Amino acid sequence: MSEPAPTANGKRCMSSFVRVASTGEIPPGQAKAFVVGPREIAVFNVAGSYYAIDNACPHQGGPLAEGWVEGCVVTCPWHAWSFDVRTGAMTPSDLCTLDTFEVQVAGSAISVSLEPRS
Ligand code: FES
Repeated sequence: MSEPAPTANGKRCMSSFVRVASTGEIPPGQAKAFVVGPREIAVFNVAGSYYAIDNACPHQGGPLAEGWVEGCVVTCPWHAWSFDVRTGAMTPSDLCTLDTFEVQVAGSAISVSLEPRS
């Protein structure tokens, strides 16, 4: 088995992935939450591309997978804070940023990294 390639900062990435769903379970424009390791992660389907962010809104913990999705932006169902699901950045302000997680799709299997992107 070969070592993982070093990242841009020279560290080696040892992230592991957990299968969470099949592609058919998350239609375009929708999201679903999954418990992945110690966290709850929301997986979004944006026109056939999948993105994963923390499911808990940083304001008061609203469930972002139950929010309104428009393009790449999800709006929290509790008090309407909005985030770009590709970057986790709050929009339109940059008050805070959610953790994002790498997503892998192999055939119809969607897997999410256990570790957030750094
Ligand atoms: S809990 Fe999400 S905006 Fe308040």
